[in-house]
Amino acid sequence: MKIAITTPTGNIGRELTKRLLDRGGHELILLARSPDKLTREQVRGAKVVKGDLGDAASVKKATQGADALFFLCPPSFSVPDYRAYYVGLAKNGAEAVKANKVKHTVLLSSVGAHLSQGTGPILGLHDAEKIFSQATKGLTILRPAWFMENHLWHLDEIKNMNSIFMPLSGDLTAPMIATVDIADRAARVITGPAPSRPTIVPLHGPKDYSLDECARIISRVIGKEVKHVQVPPAKAKEAMIGMGASENVADTILEMYAAFQAGTLKDEAKRSPETTTPTTFETFVKNVLAPRLKS
Ligand SMILES: NC(=O)c1ccc[n+]([C@@H]2O[C@H](COP(=O)([O-])OP(=O)(O)OC[C@H]3O[C@@H](n4cnc5c(N)ncnc54)[C@H](OP(=O)(O)O)[C@@H]3O)[C@@H](O)[C@H]2O)c1
Repeated sequence: MKIAITTPTGNIGRELTKRLLDRGGHELILLARSPDKLTREQVRGAKVVKGDLGDAASVKKATQGADALFFLCPPSFSVPDYRAYYVGLAKNGAEAVKANKVKHTVLLSSVGAHLSQGTGPILGLHDAEKIFSQATKGLTILRPAWFMENHLWHLDEIKNMNSIFMPLSGDLTAPMIATVDIADRAARVITGPAPSRPTIVPLHGPKDYSLDECARIISRVIGKEVKHVQVPPAKAKEAMIGMGASENVADTILEMYAAFQAGTLKDEAKRSPETTTPTTFETFVKNVLAPRLKS
């Protein structure tokens, strides 16, 4: 089978590519914005096509002859309108799927994408699900929970201030998932049969964690005390703008946090053995976060 993969240098795309190449038996097309970032080990004979997901022609070209497509809307902190940006990318992907008659598309969406308001950047994925659903019946939508990798945004705070600053209370609990587990499921789904109608796959990680519990696990693994510290939304906005976020992106991210805090941003599907994935937060800290703190 010929499988096209977007964002092969990203968290999920990179691990998905690795899994499919390890398994063998499939021809891969990697649609990379920055092919130079891909190492020889990461490519291993796969075809690399340079392209930007914001450019309809390059998405169409990269997916020519593909039987299956993994499509992910990459985050961007600088865009003037987050929702419009995701919609533009999804339209390019969906047009390419239609034009090239791709039989199976696996779309990376998010927890809360069933909701039509109040979820910030997830509204763009709500729209993306609709756009792809109108373009193809052979669609699998992955709806993962909050990524454990979000903690990597706080490496400097952990290193220098023994703290994780977020506009959320420490007792807030949410399902959290490691991106390797999303890649695992994506690999399984994309090499399986295409569904005859759009199908949703919720992914909930190993369990629900509170943010205080995450800080305690980090402390235990790295051997120094790290505290979760709740900051006012205005402070969080200031920090995001300082890191290059546009006003709109900062505001939409705060809207998403507020929905998490209010308990309105949660999956419509209940946790089950099928939605539960193996990597624990402790394993994530040992394998991913702790080594990054040392580098
Ligand atoms: N964070 C969460 O808790 C959460 C939860 C549920 C769903 N999600 C969704 O998950 C997705 C993020 O997944 P991820 O963490 O795997 O992504 P990621 O690691 O941020 O990867 C993004 C990759 O996309 C590439 N890229 C960026 N802009 C591009 C463009 N215009 N054209 C082509 N490639 C481009 C970048 O490649 P180069 O820089 O190498 O060019 C980068 O490696 C988002 O859609 C997000 O909404 C996130």
